[in-house]
Amino acid sequence: MIELSNGHQFTFMAASGALGYTGKGWWWEYPLRWVKLIDPTLFTIVTKTVTLKPQKGNHPLRAVRFIKEGVVNALGLGNPGIEEIIKRIENTQLNLVISIAGTTYELLEMIEILNNLNYIKGIEINASCPNIEEDITAPRFIKGIIKNCHFIGEISHHPLILKVSPAQAYTEIAREIPGTVIEALAINSVPWDIYSNDKSPLEKFGGGGVSGKAAQDYTWKVVKELSQVSSIPVIGPSVWEYEDIAKLLELGAKAISFGSIFLVHPLRPTQLVRRFQKE
Ligand SMILES: Cc1cc2nc3c(=O)[nH]c(=O)nc-3n(C[C@H](O)[C@H](O)[C@H](O)COP(=O)(O)O)c2cc1C
Repeated sequence: MIELSNGHQFTFMAASGALGYTGKGWWWEYPLRWVKLIDPTLFTIVTKTVTLKPQKGNHPLRAVRFIKEGVVNALGLGNPGIEEIIKRIENTQLNLVISIAGTTYELLEMIEILNNLNYIKGIEINASCPNIEEDITAPRFIKGIIKNCHFIGEISHHPLILKVSPAQAYTEIAREIPGTVIEALAINSVPWDIYSNDKSPLEKFGGGGVSGKAAQDYTWKVVKELSQVSSIPVIGPSVWEYEDIAKLLELGAKAISFGSIFLVHPLRPTQLVRRFQKE
């Protein structure tokens, strides 16, 4: 379990992108929620990433592919902008963490806006989207992440989670960010070029990011190494089977997040959490 400085505790998360912008799921998941086959109240839910201004992304029909026990996506950061998302989530009863991305200036602007929302549980800084123009592995980019964490920590009223990529110098990041400011670390999908030498099904979008069981070798290595080098709690991703929860806890994860599994087996995260709670 992870306990944030505002007292919010969680063991299970829905990863950014899994349950849409509001935590209620994507439109095709609504009927499943109405009959409680998907129960968002079991999770602390990270919204799909939002930016200061509306942005165009790639269409899901073109930029999401199902592979053997996983997903490749190159959706990018298309979203209607933070003001619109705040309207949609106003006074939500769900445990929401807002995922944000942008330049230093944009991040600080968004933090100021989110400071007015007393009903959210935290903010996740997405510093690792594999589908943006910038090279997220460049030393300059990594230095920028560390600097941003310091700046954001100065002004945020909400607990902060930092999301890193398996392709980044994540141990360096974990060592240099202030542990008093960043209260948990999350892990993004695996950029296709470090996952495989073969051609990506989403080659035309730059390759995309791989997630789900297919990504476990990469994302779980990050869980293990981060847990060894840092005292900041790590959120373990890429769960596919019930046993994966115990394996992640053994690797050092302090909480568990469900991402692609929501897309491939929409009912499974709810079933696994209910079973965990019973046992
Ligand atoms: C369709 C899709 C959309 C996603 N969108 C975002 C996003 O907007 N922001 C983000 O930080 N991560 C996003 N992710 C990454 C997930 O939050 C998660 O970090 C990644 O899938 C690894 O976890 P998993 O193996 O459990 O799926 C997305 C993943 C998928 C499959």
